[in-house]
Amino acid sequence: MTGGRTFPGVVLVGFMGSGKTSVGRRLARKLRAEFVDVDDRIERAAGKPIREIFSAEGEPSFREREKVALREALSVPGRVVATGGGAFLEEGNRALLSAYAPVVYLEARAETLLARLPGNSDRPLLGGGDRGRVVRDLLDRRVPGYRKADHTVATDGLTVEEVADRVVEWLSKTERR
Ligand code: S3P
Repeated sequence: MTGGRTFPGVVLVGFMGSGKTSVGRRLARKLRAEFVDVDDRIERAAGKPIREIFSAEGEPSFREREKVALREALSVPGRVVATGGGAFLEEGNRALLSAYAPVVYLEARAETLLARLPGNSDRPLLGGGDRGRVVRDLLDRRVPGYRKADHTVATDGLTVEEVADRVVEWLSKTERR
């Protein structure tokens, strides 16, 4: 980012395994901005991992915790915010995130996501049954929501560094508008 304007922040959305956290960290370093991972905040506030929040309290409780963590993450301008894979799909969250900063969807094919997601995943939504089918079905249902982002970066075959560079490139173009 060059011009003298203040960096407004940026929000990363996308499916589990799309690289939101690793790209977000890299991006924050490049932009000299603060990085916030919403899932991390949820875990710290709850004092337990997401897997346990799901098993002990259920998904609705997790989503409530997510809303609270999102609001906190967005309380300071100019941050690089990595969301959990479901956060942007809820209308109220989407409105908050979009009002905060440009939203970038890190898009990836199901095969790419499956290759990136560890088998012993801490992701409760991927727990049951044929993992390939679970990912494909959930991805199909979610893509229309993710596409409501301001910009999409196709991440298949790209390194974390390359994805971060594409986001920076797009941000500097939008900044000039
Ligand atoms: C979820 C994604 C996870 C985490 C939770 C629910 C989802 O975050 O928030 O398990 O609904 O897609 P990541 O996308 O960082 O894995």
